[in-house]
Amino acid sequence: KKGGYPHYMLKEIHEQPDALHNTITPRVKNGMLDFKEDGIADDVFTDINRVIIIGCGTAMHAGLIGKVMFEKLLRIPVTVEIASEFRYNDPILDKNTLVITISQSGETADTLAALRLSKEAGCKTLSIVNVKGSSIARESDYVFYTHAGPEIAVASTKAYMVQLSSIYMIAFKFAMLRGTISKETCEDYLKQLQDTINAVATTIDLDKQIEKISECLTSVEDLFFIGRGLDYPLSCEGSIKLKEISYIHSEAYAAGELKHGTLSLVTDDVPVIALATQEKVYSKMISNIREVRARGAMVILITNGEMPVDDDLCAHHIVLPKTDDQFAPFTAAVVLQLIAYYTSVHRGLNVDQPRNLAKSVTVE
Ligand code: F6R
Repeated sequence: KKGGYPHYMLKEIHEQPDALHNTITPRVKNGMLDFKEDGIADDVFTDINRVIIIGCGTAMHAGLIGKVMFEKLLRIPVTVEIASEFRYNDPILDKNTLVITISQSGETADTLAALRLSKEAGCKTLSIVNVKGSSIARESDYVFYTHAGPEIAVASTKAYMVQLSSIYMIAFKFAMLRGTISKETCEDYLKQLQDTINAVATTIDLDKQIEKISECLTSVEDLFFIGRGLDYPLSCEGSIKLKEISYIHSEAYAAGELKHGTLSLVTDDVPVIALATQEKVYSKMISNIREVRARGAMVILITNGEMPVDDDLCAHHIVLPKTDDQFAPFTAAVVLQLIAYYTSVHRGLNVDQPRNLAKSVTVE
């Protein structure tokens, strides 16, 4: 059943290139994105002046990446909401708001309630869902299905990956329709997204290196993930993944925020997983890493392709296959998944079924 893998999680990590292929390819016609079979009309974003992305846990973290990409490409303000907060906070909603709910199962109780509330308030609704015919899919105006196939491990991996690809495709297509990017740029981005599938496969091949590096996390109690730009929401995802299956306490921090509080927790040998995939803020990130190094942190550095790195900057350096920076979340996510996976394995824990957690949270 596990296809020769010791755990479903590892199997599902390895299935990511296929999941991406199955999610992207049916939407590409003659080198251009086509959502006709999804029943998603070209005018979905017409009259929309605000987008709210809603989800829980990992799905919400995909939404945080979505905010950066949507605002960058579509130039529409986007907020990301935790479903269980949104629904009780008396949100301001109207017919010019597009609400995008993201859910693997399509049954998460809080996300479903947030969707219903948005519909009652007259918002347009679009959902990104993996399970066909699920409640969230049935009740949304538009559904963009991800094609990850069944995800068994409690820790979400391939579902997150295809949620990202869906967000990117939606951003590319509607940015082109809105005229905020050209047709040529849209085609170019789509091609790069397709090329990312191979880059994800190449990143999975780093698993022996990551298995070895993860040994140094076996007996730690706290650690930090830091990043800037797209690397910050990605840090949030790295942190939740590690927490849920390795039971190590971790926090994700926007690297520039460290000195506003958390730096006091960084002392000798505290592990810091530093994501530095974004060229635009690379030198800022390096300064932040120097700050934690000066306090004795044990740094695991992740860069997009080979980058110049001083000898004493990090204990370990993981080099992602080079992609354009905006696609680095796909490859970096694989590394974070593998770190969580191997740390859990080294600690002898139940990787696929961590304590206290359920795959589908259908009650509040
Ligand atoms: C973490 C994880 C959870 C889910 C969350 C939402 O690895 O799997 O955080 O992402 O419970 O579930 P769905 O996507 O089914 O709404």
